[in-house]
Amino acid sequence: MSIAVSHPSPNAPRARSTKTIQGASATVSNDTPDISIDTRHMQHALALASRALGQSSPNPLVGCVIARGETVIGEGWHHGAGQPHAEIEALNSVTQGLRGATAYVTLEPCNHHGRTPPCSKALLDAGIARLVYALPDPNPVAAGGAARLAAAGITVEGGLLAEEAAHLNRFFLSSVVRQRPWVIAKSAHSLDGRVATREGHSQWITGDRAREQGHRIRQAVDAILVGPGTVIADNPSLDVRLPDTELPRAARRHPTPVIIDRQQRVPLDCRLLATADRPCIYVTATSSETPSTGSNGRSPTASHAATVAGNDGNRLETLRNRGHQPVLLPLRESGDFDLTELLHRLHELGIQSLLVEGGAAMHGAFADATLIDEFALFIAPLIIGGAGAPSAFGGTGPASLDDAMRLQALRCEALGDDWYLNGLSGSGMNLLERYHGADSFAQTSASRLSSSPAPAPAPAPAPEYL
Ligand SMILES: NC(=O)c1ccc[n+]([C@@H]2O[C@H](COP(=O)([O-])OP(=O)(O)OC[C@H]3O[C@@H](n4cnc5c(N)ncnc54)[C@H](OP(=O)(O)O)[C@@H]3O)[C@@H](O)[C@H]2O)c1
Repeated sequence: MSIAVSHPSPNAPRARSTKTIQGASATVSNDTPDISIDTRHMQHALALASRALGQSSPNPLVGCVIARGETVIGEGWHHGAGQPHAEIEALNSVTQGLRGATAYVTLEPCNHHGRTPPCSKALLDAGIARLVYALPDPNPVAAGGAARLAAAGITVEGGLLAEEAAHLNRFFLSSVVRQRPWVIAKSAHSLDGRVATREGHSQWITGDRAREQGHRIRQAVDAILVGPGTVIADNPSLDVRLPDTELPRAARRHPTPVIIDRQQRVPLDCRLLATADRPCIYVTATSSETPSTGSNGRSPTASHAATVAGNDGNRLETLRNRGHQPVLLPLRESGDFDLTELLHRLHELGIQSLLVEGGAAMHGAFADATLIDEFALFIAPLIIGGAGAPSAFGGTGPASLDDAMRLQALRCEALGDDWYLNGLSGSGMNLLERYHGADSFAQTSASRLSSSPAPAPAPAPAPEYL
């Protein structure tokens, strides 16, 4: 009997249980599908996938391991758009016969003819007996590989370590499922939440190791957003600075800077805009509009408004001539941008992940709009104090503690004298929870294999970058 694979819709509120699909003419593998072996191979595939962090966008991070029992006979990962898919890399690395082997893939094999032929067909032609994958492909154009293999008699199992795979691919999932980038708010602040002293001194609040980790996050994302206050105060370059030993220059990818400047007060000779070395996205108000009082309570002065109206055309033309990309957004009645609209515009420009690096007003605006998915907070053992010293999150903020954002899936790590705290917001969790349910794989397989040996100790988790 041949059973079709049915995936839960990626839009379903909560996913997913594991499915085991036994095709009519499936070759019975000699492998004992021991859960500990499966888990270990999938962990390995996830680690392979993560090697392309910061390189694969707009494509997903995918790793593939081909194994016979405990023995890995092939492996590969997707290096980026236009490069072979992970399954093809893995198949090409195999030097022995594939009959009876299991392919472990972190994402359901594609079933469409894009820049490369369908991976489902390649696996089928190679003669693998069993496919284990983590995530169903949320992209309807590419999905269907699991069903095709099951229909051809291959044993297909999905959902193993889906939670980990979803977290690894959260940028891609956000883009496909929500049509907006995954948003990370990053801040370096003191124990009392200050990002600068009352005199504006902010460099450097945290030490070398924390700052290095900050650069790793930059390397992983497509774009970094800053507000006008930060550009004026710090004149940042927002590039990736990591030791050559960790990241060779050739592999270094600087994220696209996104500058928010509704009143066009950022100097054109600031580091980011002065040259065309790195094209920036410059977000400002449509020329016919003059900001009224914004959520930060600032009203543009008459002379400032005149400057905006007077410089608008020239400024945008100058920026275009330098290779930057102006994005014109309407202002809402409040005088603020609609940040949801901004995220959709960035999505249309191919941005899957956005790091909001401040300052306080920008962090606050994104927090007020509940558009932050993840927090990357570097906390120094300092008390700065001072009523006038800026805090990490401005904006309006909630009136009640019940409405304060509570971080979930918290991870904390010491980096020298500082602490790195990473957590997800409700919106980030909502997206990833659709892919929870990996545990059911273990249960299904374990109950099927009552005589299987006790699971080996858990393998080391796939490397993390955040
Ligand atoms: N330690 C850290 O991690 C870190 C990171 C970044 C910055 N900082 C520090 O933070 C300070 C700057 O903070 P900041 O709050 O002044 O800077 P900011 O957030 O970069 O910019 C503030 C400006 O953003 C605009 N704005 C506010 N809300 C807006 C909205 N909803 N839509 C569009 N525009 C909006 C306003 O300018 P207009 O009225 O002109 O539109 C406001 O004056 C600096 O001292 C910097 O060194 C620290």
